[in-house]
Amino acid sequence: MNPLDLKVDEELRTRLTSHVSRNCGDMLIVNPGKPEESALIKILKEPCGTTPRMPIECVNDGDAKCVPPDYIEALTQWIADGALE
Ligand code: HEM
Repeated sequence: MNPLDLKVDEELRTRLTSHVSRNCGDMLIVNPGKPEESALIKILKEPCGTTPRMPIECVNDGDAKCVPPDYIEALTQWIADGALE
């Protein structure tokens, strides 16, 4: 089951798919169809380049502030499916 209730409109999609994170491997935040090349997914799992793991108070797996694995998995699937609106 998808735990996300994403509300993605055209503006948000455009922003997420056009911003390149210079500090995280010159990767797009969201690269449709390519979660492994999306800074959003990388950064929720581990530090990337000079950017610390996000959210900022999440350092180790299981920390209270970390995004739960099933949410990261759902985001990964959403991007893999094309990050549709
Ligand atoms: C799920 C929640 C969050 C996500 C998905 C997220 C995502 C990101 C991403 C993708 C970047 C890189 C932007 C870029 O390189 O252009 C970034 C940078 C940053 N975020 Fe977050 N963030 C989250 C929560 C937070 C929180 C709670 C804080 C602070 C309280 C925070 C503070 C920062 C800071 C300071 C940077 C710049 C780090 C640097 O490059 O030196 N973020 N975040």
